[in-house]
Amino acid sequence: MLYTLAASAALVGLARAQGAGTETAETHPKMNWQECSGTGGNSCQNQNGEIVLDANWRWVHPVGTYDNCYEGNTWNATACPDNAACAQNCELEGVDYQATYGIQAGGNELTLKFVTEHEYGTNVGSRVYLMESESQYKLFNLNNNEFTFDVDVSELVCGLNGALYFVSMPQGGHGEAGAKYGTGYCDAQCPRDLKFIDGLGNVEGWEPSDSDGNAGVGQRGSCCAEMDIWEANSISTAVTPHSCDSEAFTECSGESCGGTYSGERYAGTCDPNGCDFNPYRVGVPDFYGPGKTVDTNQKMTVVTQFIADGGSLSEIRRFYVQNGQVIAQPDAAIEGLSGNVITQEFCDAQEGVFQEEEYPFNDHGGMASMSRAHDAGMVLVMSLWGDHYAHMEWLDSNYPPDGDASQPGVARGDCPNGISDPNDLISQYPNAQVKFSNIKFGPLGSTFAEPASARVKREKRTAERAAARARK
Ligand SMILES: *[C@@H]1O[C@H](CO)[C@@H](O)[C@H](O)[C@H]1NC(C)=O
Repeated sequence: MLYTLAASAALVGLARAQGAGTETAETHPKMNWQECSGTGGNSCQNQNGEIVLDANWRWVHPVGTYDNCYEGNTWNATACPDNAACAQNCELEGVDYQATYGIQAGGNELTLKFVTEHEYGTNVGSRVYLMESESQYKLFNLNNNEFTFDVDVSELVCGLNGALYFVSMPQGGHGEAGAKYGTGYCDAQCPRDLKFIDGLGNVEGWEPSDSDGNAGVGQRGSCCAEMDIWEANSISTAVTPHSCDSEAFTECSGESCGGTYSGERYAGTCDPNGCDFNPYRVGVPDFYGPGKTVDTNQKMTVVTQFIADGGSLSEIRRFYVQNGQVIAQPDAAIEGLSGNVITQEFCDAQEGVFQEEEYPFNDHGGMASMSRAHDAGMVLVMSLWGDHYAHMEWLDSNYPPDGDASQPGVARGDCPNGISDPNDLISQYPNAQVKFSNIKFGPLGSTFAEPASARVKREKRTAERAAARARK
């Protein structure tokens, strides 16, 4: 009966592009956050938020049936002979967040579990977005604002990444299913592992992954700007802007996408590397980790300020709060790099000091691009993942793995090389999890007790930049 309905819909030429199924109602877990004003983190208003699981994790099935359009890491050739037919024939399903995906939200907290065994198989990792309504993502403009959250990374071993970041996704997602079903993802890697992009399938030329039983790479990729506030585990952390020639969602094709999923990493229109500030990597190895200055055995508050003097992003500033103590990002401590903030000058210096084969952040617009992305509004992403491509060694170990660790920029964390194949992590650390909570957003100084000395320093730098602009 259901099949007949679907077939007759196709016969009368009813367009259906990446629609939603009806087997399971899609009910978004609630996650509240706070919008702040004034100073000191005391004037904050509760916002009723909800989160949605990305479309790529969902069951995709032929319209109205219990069959599969995609299983393991291959497409069903009958339902998906090409990109257009696949989007017509298949639909995305609602999910049971906790039982199937190990995602638990409530109050102001969100917990993402690494491995979840469920009725139909095993789920690995997840990626969720914050919504402002059932069918629209919440857009944030970070310029001249401050984003603060608490995080517990104590169970994130080497090779895992519990990430909180922003991307320039379309607010309503893509296709008929739209943002309600977590569609529309893009980032600065121009990911080609997405099953649907812009309401069409990614089945043509799809190559199943050798190492990931759930993933593959298609010909179509999904690019946009990315502001990584937090990529971290218990060993290392990085804050990293990624620029793009065009900040908004842009489709790319094949190897010209560049990024992680393409043979030519630097062939695309976005910056896959970023201008990162990882304390370990810039010469302060004793700052972040178990028992260190910022102790990853305990929950911490992470504050990120986006100073945009004269309207354009000039500085990304980081503080931690732990046990009531405010701890500033440490100053870089390797020859040629200084200060504890990301500015265009810091990125220019990093390009010279790290001497990598390419420095794509500056090639694709640098801080000015990130600033435009902020102004256009970005979507908040929270995820937990293992890295089948580079085993997260770019975050927490020596990278490149055969690099000389005594050279600037190679050592990024205490993790030994060669221990973080996600397939090993899945069997050894299935219960790993990350917990994000207590999100606060508002003007500079509104979300936490900014020390008077820090405020004075920030305002002095703003005044200096205003004077420099006036001289030009
Ligand atoms: C593949 O799709 C066809 C057409 O919708 C369906 O009849 C078949 O059962 C699907 N195969 C699997 C393995 O789900």
